[in-house]
Amino acid sequence: MMRFIALLIALALPVAASAAGHGKSEASREDFGDAAKGQQIAGQVCAACHGADGNSPLSANPNLAGQHPDYLFKQLMEYKSGARANAIMAGMVANLSVEDMRNLAAFYASKPAKQGTAKDMELVTAGQQLYRAGVPDKGVAACSACHSPDGAGIPPQYPRVSGQHAEYTATQLRAFRAGARDNDLNAMMRMVAARLSEAEIKALAEYISGLR
Ligand code: HEC
Ligand code: HEC
Repeated sequence: MMRFIALLIALALPVAASAAGHGKSEASREDFGDAAKGQQIAGQVCAACHGADGNSPLSANPNLAGQHPDYLFKQLMEYKSGARANAIMAGMVANLSVEDMRNLAAFYASKPAKQGTAKDMELVTAGQQLYRAGVPDKGVAACSACHSPDGAGIPPQYPRVSGQHAEYTATQLRAFRAGARDNDLNAMMRMVAARLSEAEIKALAEYISGLR
């Protein structure tokens, strides 16, 4: 009986998370960490690359503003453990405590994400089709199923992708495709990216940069 109940709860969870993911994100969750303490570290260590408010000035550096705190915290922990390999970020988190990383996640999650603008309309049209429908012939799942139609993601597991710099998004898709980034639970992103062509990655990255 207990097992049956546990199963029911497990089955109900994604639905509840998905309902919470639509419309407002849970980015402003205050129980996650101390955003004011996070802001202090961010101002000293992270702002040069990610912007004072998490909207990064350079397209190689991801925007962090408005991202779900659970996702941000997971990435920081994994840069520290090496599960997500990146020399720059490994250095940045080396001296941070778990509490520091929770506070940083709370800070960036609380900041509003600036809207991006896509530039190449031909790529956007192709990207929109891919994002919404995937590539059925190649067995590529629709991005919208996990990242939501407006790209806001579905917390806690599925990150916001909308408005992200195209250069950063394309780099991540290539890294998942090559298996160089392998910190995705159940290889969800590696399976999706494995079958994407370079042209499809470019179109998706451009579409996502203007998605809102
Ligand atoms: C010298 C520039 C630089 C500094 C300083 C820096 N970062 Fe980064 N950050 C990057 C780059 C580049 C990436 C992308 C790395 C990759 O491809 O995994 C990144 C990625 C991230 C990610 C992953 C975002 C995502 O969408 O998956 C998080 C979270 C992050 N940084 C937080 C921080 C925090 C917190 C600090 C300060 C303690 C910081 N960064 C300082 C350059 C920097
Ligand atoms: C089955 C669910 C699923 C599907 C379908 C999916 N994703 Fe993801 N995606 C994830 C998960 C989970 C993560 C977070 C991995 C982690 O925890 O590091 C992610 C991460 C990402 C990231 C990295 C975000 C960042 O800030 O670094 C990008 C970019 C991305 N997905 C784009 C896409 C695109 C484009 C598609 C469609 C071609 C897609 N995803 C389809 C589950 C999915």
